[in-house]
Amino acid sequence: MATSGAGSLISFEGIEGCGKSTQIVLLAERLRATGREVVISREPGATSLGSELRKILLDPTYDPDALTELLLYLADRREHRRLVIAPALQRGALVLIDRYVDSTWVYQGFAQDEIEPSLIERLNRLVVGDNWPDLTFILDCPVAVGLERARERNRETGAEGVADRFEQRHLEFHDRVRQGFLALAKVEKERFRVIAADREVETIHNDIWREFSLKYAIS
Ligand code: TYD
Repeated sequence: MATSGAGSLISFEGIEGCGKSTQIVLLAERLRATGREVVISREPGATSLGSELRKILLDPTYDPDALTELLLYLADRREHRRLVIAPALQRGALVLIDRYVDSTWVYQGFAQDEIEPSLIERLNRLVVGDNWPDLTFILDCPVAVGLERARERNRETGAEGVADRFEQRHLEFHDRVRQGFLALAKVEKERFRVIAADREVETIHNDIWREFSLKYAIS
């Protein structure tokens, strides 16, 4: 690995149903087989305070304004960083996170037209300090494909018909989200890898592994 001693922070981003969690598990298994400590986490909701915030954030009965929503995500992140991310990185672990700073930039900023994305960038930096992602995979697929997968997941888990606050939003919003992630990837080329996610799970995993191996010089 490039960062000997210290760990690395790798985030996974994309629209709903793009397959982040499946890919995180596959990458984690492969990395653990090399003897590395791997920590899997997600936002919102990785800490006990965070899981209370998650319930509030995803509950369709609430309709907070954009700034309130932003502050709740940032509170969740601050706690996540303090209790999970920073200690794991100090131990030298690889931390794989399902959504992080870029989701806020895209969902609360770019896709909504209410809060300047540059303000979100500054607040994100304030909240996470130097725990910025080293590498970010954007799993990119058409909105229709992602939402169908998210619905399938709800059917399997018995949550059919109870789409959360975000899944209820219209297609146009999800397409703005997709475009937001692609726009970020164009600006910060060093950090982002865009992976086409409307393909077989194994094929996607192999692409992620290849990019990961190149970045960290694993043979
Ligand atoms: P989740 O059920 O974890 O969805 P997914 O499997 O798609 O990740 O719900 C997380 C939701 O929270 C998702 O719709 C995106 C949203 N979100 C934001 O709007 N801003 C943020 O900063 C984060 C971390 C998530």
